[in-house]
Amino acid sequence: MSKFTVIDHPLIQHKLRILRDKNTSTKDFRELVNEIATLMAYEVSRDMQLEDVEIDTPVAHTTVKQLTGKKVAVVPILRAGLGMVDGVVKLIPAARIGHIGMYRDEKTLEPHEYFIKLPEDIEKREVIVVDPMLATGGSAKDAIAALKKRGARYIKLMVLVAAPEGVKAVQAADPDVDIFAAALDDHLNDKGYIVPGLGDAGDRLFGTK
Ligand code: PRP
Ligand code: URA
Repeated sequence: MSKFTVIDHPLIQHKLRILRDKNTSTKDFRELVNEIATLMAYEVSRDMQLEDVEIDTPVAHTTVKQLTGKKVAVVPILRAGLGMVDGVVKLIPAARIGHIGMYRDEKTLEPHEYFIKLPEDIEKREVIVVDPMLATGGSAKDAIAALKKRGARYIKLMVLVAAPEGVKAVQAADPDVDIFAAALDDHLNDKGYIVPGLGDAGDRLFGTK
């Protein structure tokens, strides 16, 4: 079973409170999604590998740490995942970006893939899939399957708001994929929206509908 972690840092909780408010503007929503993504990326990258290197400071010769190991690919699930990319790349500037286009049919709630473009060496990279919402889990599961089909082996899923149904579905389908969220909400309503949630993340980010 994969790990499910709620990153409940006070700054994240405070920003998420503003994000959830239906009166928050598109401009503020967009900024807050990126800010929360940066704060979460700090924790999601905690297990990155380090190696010892010797350097000279102006004062002495010493051994210090530097990053080694796998390079990173950030893969947003379009559209809403796009809103988190800049926030993650701020902390991991050398990351490559892949894209997976996925929309959820409003009636059946079934996800449909419409676009995929990944870095060539995706199988060697640590992949951080980003999407603000994990509702039924259908979109995340299909995105992860699309990545695995193309060779990706080290995958983490980073979302802002998760529903218990979505966490359970991804853990059952992908026991190797750890999930990080800023909040675990109560349930899904009969339209597949997370309750209390924050509404339609894509529409609020891009000012549509
Ligand atoms: C939203 C959200 C997730 C998906 C979650 O995207 O950004 O990708 O729904 O729902 P699920 O867990 O039940 O699959 P949506 O399909 O609304 O597309 P958008 O990002 O283009 O708005
Ligand atoms: N997608 C969203 O954008 N919001 C939800 O609450 C569920 C799915």
